[in-house]
Amino acid sequence: MKILVIGGGGREHALVWKLAQSPRVSTLYCAPGNAGISRLATCVPIPADDLAGLKKFAQENNIGLTVVGPEAPLALGIADEFRQAKLRIFGPTRNAAKIESSKAFAKDLMVRQHIPTAPAHTFESLGPALKYLESRPAPMVVKADGLAQGKGVVVAATHDDAKEAVVDMLERQTFGLAGKRVVIEECLQGEEITLMAFADGKTVVPMVAAQDHKRVGDADTGPNTGGMGAFAPSPIVTAGLRDRIVREILYPAIEGLSRVGSPFYGVLYAGLMVKDGEPFVLEFNARFGDPETQVVLPLLKTDLVNVLEAVIEHRLDQLQIEWTEQAAVCVALTSGGYPGAYRKGLPITGCNDDRFSEDVMMFHAGTAWKDNNLVTAGGRVLGATGLGPDLSTARSRAYEAAKAITFDGVHFRQDIAGRVGGPVS
Ligand SMILES: Nc1ncnc2c1ncn2[C@@H]1O[C@H](COP(=O)(O)OP(=O)(O)O)[C@@H](O)[C@H]1O
Ligand SMILES: [Mg+2]
Repeated sequence: MKILVIGGGGREHALVWKLAQSPRVSTLYCAPGNAGISRLATCVPIPADDLAGLKKFAQENNIGLTVVGPEAPLALGIADEFRQAKLRIFGPTRNAAKIESSKAFAKDLMVRQHIPTAPAHTFESLGPALKYLESRPAPMVVKADGLAQGKGVVVAATHDDAKEAVVDMLERQTFGLAGKRVVIEECLQGEEITLMAFADGKTVVPMVAAQDHKRVGDADTGPNTGGMGAFAPSPIVTAGLRDRIVREILYPAIEGLSRVGSPFYGVLYAGLMVKDGEPFVLEFNARFGDPETQVVLPLLKTDLVNVLEAVIEHRLDQLQIEWTEQAAVCVALTSGGYPGAYRKGLPITGCNDDRFSEDVMMFHAGTAWKDNNLVTAGGRVLGATGLGPDLSTARSRAYEAAKAITFDGVHFRQDIAGRVGGPVS
């Protein structure tokens, strides 16, 4: 079968890497891909949000299955377009993807389905929003309703900060349409975890729980990023807690979507805060997470093509999905200055795949070829991912690989999986 993966980051490299292991795959394509992906798949220069271009490519090249990485094409309705054209695609419809693309929609759904989450209110005009936040104790959380590339959430320590965020979104329109509505919610304390699950409209099968690190600096300091690293399994998520999340959060979510005529087919990602063993939803995403996918897919034993097909054919209940007992840790190597301004096109050394053992995967995110040399091409450049029998071994392997890489200004956190794995030696 010919498979097309859409996207070009570390998540997509992990997807392509896993799919390349399937005996059922004849040819792999990735649009647009990156330098690392080009070693495993034919990269085609079509942007992930060019729906017409992607559809034409899939039709002309007889693609048997398209797998969508990022949220933008899903929110634009790529799954609807492909299905109408009788093309097989892994990912939810535009309406089902609203669970990610509208935080107000997701909040309404959670309230209707009695899913535990922070109490919240949604506003479209400034006056009532400001009045409401004056009536609430700080800290509080202000969220732009729409997709904002991970920049639309402000955890405000004071009323002034919250007010500033609301004015930014509703009046200054810093986030454009995404900030036309804001959700103001209670601030939750606890440990953040991610549970992703395959969902076929009626059955939910959880993956291994993961944790990621969002702040740029050690000890969770500095601004938020797309993710500086991740590890799995999360020691916080016991089998009992996982089952509860599946029963009390994931099933009610997909049932709520089916009820409004938008059954969910794809990966449902729950971002959760766990406080005293109780899970609360911070957000849902409608696709694989990044960097979480870089630590979760290496633990999957089952052929990924079989899993993706079971989802799109609505027969997940008949498939046994198996996971290894191993652990994985991913350390993101980023460009100096990220998440602010950074340079591109800097030569990367030490990244010849042959140098890494079978317990290390070097997933590429922002990389490109320039005159046959590997260069940086984004904020997150590489994801050094180590596997091992436990988190601390996986962590040593990830850091060993990370340290072998050099490019001008390279940055990575020293404390990924730190609290569970002990200090980096
Ligand atoms: N209610 C909340 N209480 C405390 N922290 C929150 C809350 N909602 C979000 N956050 C923090 O903000 C981050 C981003 O929020 P999230 O809802 O995941 O939006 P997005 O990923 O779209 O930016 C979360 O990972 C979490 O750290
Ligand atoms: Mg999030």
